[in-house]
Amino acid sequence: MCGIVGYVGPRNAAPLLMEGLRRLEYRGYDSAGIALTDGTGSPDVHIVRRVGPVANLAEAVDPASLGHTGIGHTRWATHGGVNEPNAHPHLDSTNRIAVVHNGIIENHAAIRALLEEEGVHFRSQTDTEVLPHLIRKFYRGDPLEAVRTALQAVQGTYGIAVTFADHPGVIIAARNGSPLVVGKGEGETFLASDPTALAGYTRQVMYLEDREIMRITAEGWELTRLDGGTISHAIEELAEDLVWSEKGDFQHHMLKEIHEQPESLRRCLSGRVVPEEGGARLGGLDLTTREIATISRVGVLGCGTSFHASLVGAAAMEQLARIPAFAEIASEFRYRNPVIDPSALFLAVSQSGETADTLGAVREVQVKGGRVMGVVNVVGSSIARACGRGVYVHSGPEIAVASTKAFTSQVAALLVASLMFGRTRHIAADEGRRFGNELLAVPDLVSRYLENPGAIDAAVEMVAGGKYVFFFGRGVSHAVAMEGALKLKEVAYIPCMSYPAAEMKHGPIALIDPTTPVVAIVPDDVMRDKTLSNVQEVKARGARTIIVHSEGDKDAAALADVSIPVPRTRSSLISPLLTVLPLQLIAYRAGLALGRNIDRPRNLAKSVTVE
Ligand code: M6R
Repeated sequence: MCGIVGYVGPRNAAPLLMEGLRRLEYRGYDSAGIALTDGTGSPDVHIVRRVGPVANLAEAVDPASLGHTGIGHTRWATHGGVNEPNAHPHLDSTNRIAVVHNGIIENHAAIRALLEEEGVHFRSQTDTEVLPHLIRKFYRGDPLEAVRTALQAVQGTYGIAVTFADHPGVIIAARNGSPLVVGKGEGETFLASDPTALAGYTRQVMYLEDREIMRITAEGWELTRLDGGTISHAIEELAEDLVWSEKGDFQHHMLKEIHEQPESLRRCLSGRVVPEEGGARLGGLDLTTREIATISRVGVLGCGTSFHASLVGAAAMEQLARIPAFAEIASEFRYRNPVIDPSALFLAVSQSGETADTLGAVREVQVKGGRVMGVVNVVGSSIARACGRGVYVHSGPEIAVASTKAFTSQVAALLVASLMFGRTRHIAADEGRRFGNELLAVPDLVSRYLENPGAIDAAVEMVAGGKYVFFFGRGVSHAVAMEGALKLKEVAYIPCMSYPAAEMKHGPIALIDPTTPVVAIVPDDVMRDKTLSNVQEVKARGARTIIVHSEGDKDAAALADVSIPVPRTRSSLISPLLTVLPLQLIAYRAGLALGRNIDRPRNLAKSVTVE
């Protein structure tokens, strides 16, 4: 979603801001803009904004435009349509204060009404525009104090950056619920909402916490709490794997990320599965065996693809570790006033680590005295920091909005955790060793499948021509069916439904006719025969079937109009790491065939930082 960049230093800010915005494009946005002060030759803050891709903005920005201090923004519309007046930065009435903002000002209507009564004229429909006007109202010559006072009146979430024409060489930044990170260079300072924008410029960073405000100059920053009092946080080193990822020889990031899965899975598993002990080690959880033995329940929380991985994780916790477990959509969990058992363990699953709904669920667990740990990809992200303990999934940067390699790494990390807990509580060394060895073999199996993925084009022809597509499976394969349906919706905009296979006959089967493609996920596990019966039922109503099944399963292949074999796994819990692959490829190639914007589908954002 929205992204923020900022720069103060001796260099021309415009090209640096543009590069930062380009790196934030993957988050999803619909307009972009920058504001420059300090050397622009204008008494006002100089702003340029454009609707559409950052490339549109780049055409409008003179890279040589002077200005050594600047802020930039990519906007994903929440309040007010997608147009230039609603794009950030927003200015006060005198054009001398500019603000970029991520998050939502919840009491914007009341503030706006008040300011309008005082004669302020608004130029946009955004919630954000109240900020520059409020700051102007309280400005008495000290930028930090003006922003601090203005924010006292504000309810909601924000990460903001503010520049003042009267104070060239200064940016004021503040955070409440929307991440911000500052980076220290040699005589220059960078600001961003996402450390990806800083990679390559500096590795010395500091993350702001909620209700903190800072004054940034080329020499560094001073950090204070919003309600007063100077503080400091340690400077951290940006993770080495946080490098800006280019597409390389691949046509799209999504395809590249699908093909990175053997490597990302290896990174996730390596050093964690310990076959000699028949178990696993996840140091980041920092749990003693006694603590593991007393976990009463595991709750796995996430949204979208991360929720689908959570479903597999919860199944593994029950089946492997024999701990009662459930998965729940984080946005629902946080508002249903859940009962939090202090001896339960909650896991918050998130690729970005910035999803507002998941962060809200983390806070709900914490407020009620519960224990919650992150299963997160982005190192240093808000969820990772809020949880303090957890597992990094190490998929590497995922740029395409449609998540692929993060899903498999999340599943793998949750399987490793289940193995670790299982070994402590129930599993004998032999069984643990078998499971661990099978997990370690998965990256090679994924690689072998991707080299020869089978009849993907035939499947694409079938789904691309359908009015809507059904996906079904049972057990963990239902989670895979949900993930396959989500991918095809996101990337190809094809209406899809996913059901536990046996549920079809309780209603949805009414929709089946000879034009309906049905994608069935049927690995050779304990549910195989039952799922194949469900396939027979839809075939009897004329459905055309794409069946993802284990290699060598002749019965499953014979029932399929399009048969896609994947490498076989002994444990059904491991099968999602393979059965999901053809579904990722089908979505990708269907999107391609239909001319969709693969890496940045319409209306979507990579990090969903608002509720
Ligand atoms: O960053 P997160 O894993 O917390 O994101 C959760 C969802 O927004 C995300 O998985 C979304 O559903 C993806 N676009 C799926 O491809």
